[in-house]
Amino acid sequence: MPAGMKPLVAVVAWAFVAHGMRRQARSLTSHCKPWLLLCAASMCQAVPAAEWVKEPANAARRAELISLVRQDCGSCHGLTLKGGLGPALLPASLKDKPADSLKWTILQGRPGTPMPPWQRFLSEAEADWIVSQLQKGFPGER
Ligand code: HEC
Repeated sequence: MPAGMKPLVAVVAWAFVAHGMRRQARSLTSHCKPWLLLCAASMCQAVPAAEWVKEPANAARRAELISLVRQDCGSCHGLTLKGGLGPALLPASLKDKPADSLKWTILQGRPGTPMPPWQRFLSEAEADWIVSQLQKGFPGER
């Protein structure tokens, strides 16, 4: 093709592509009903709240809780949580105990025994998470 025609071809090709893109964009907005967007937005919000008990949202806090349990709780319950002054906190020893009562033992301690209360350092959700991790096998420190 003659060299002079190249810019013309380029302009025609660009116009063709741009027109196609605009058509696509229009059909996208007409298909995305506002209620669908709202629904998707509310799902995004609902998930983290429901997941919290399973996993504290913040990885740094998770790491803190893991080292608290391994070090502070480990000083009585054994560094591998197999028991010491306090009983073992392994899945086999905890599996038949109700998670809720274990959580309150952690938060309020057991008066008359060396088990101290931790509610000044842990929220209820964090104690819940620790119990769920102990019952599955507590994660190691990284
Ligand atoms: C100063 C020692 C000490 C420390 C520190 C300690 N515990 Fe205990 N814990 C005990 C003792 C002793 C018992 C048993 C109490 C009893 O006789 O009922 C106990 C009981 C428990 C129980 C109940 C176990 C069961 O089988 O019913 C849980 C759960 C527990 N501790 C978790 C923790 C966690 C989690 C931490 C750290 C956040 C912690 N403990 C720190 C001494 C300690």
